Amino acid sequence: MTRPPAPRDFDHPDVVLVPHGPMLLRGAESVQDVDGTVHPVERPVVALCRCDKSSRLPWCDGTHKVIPR
Ligand code: FES
Repeated sequence: MTRPPAPRDFDHPDVVLVPHGPMLLRGAESVQDVDGTVHPVERPVVALCRCDKSSRLPWCDGTHKVIPR
């Protein structure tokens, strides 16, 4: 049986766009926001805010769930 690769074994991050929600990013070592600030990634998968309403930008805090569409 083959073991799945550790997150850092990816040669590029995987991206999944959640409909009406965040962008899930797997395998990234850091994220650079629009201001140029680099945020280290310490988890295998992180959720990046796409609605711009999070109180923890660039990370999703779930606020998108209460925004009317
Ligand atoms: S996408 Fe979740 S708070 Fe913005």
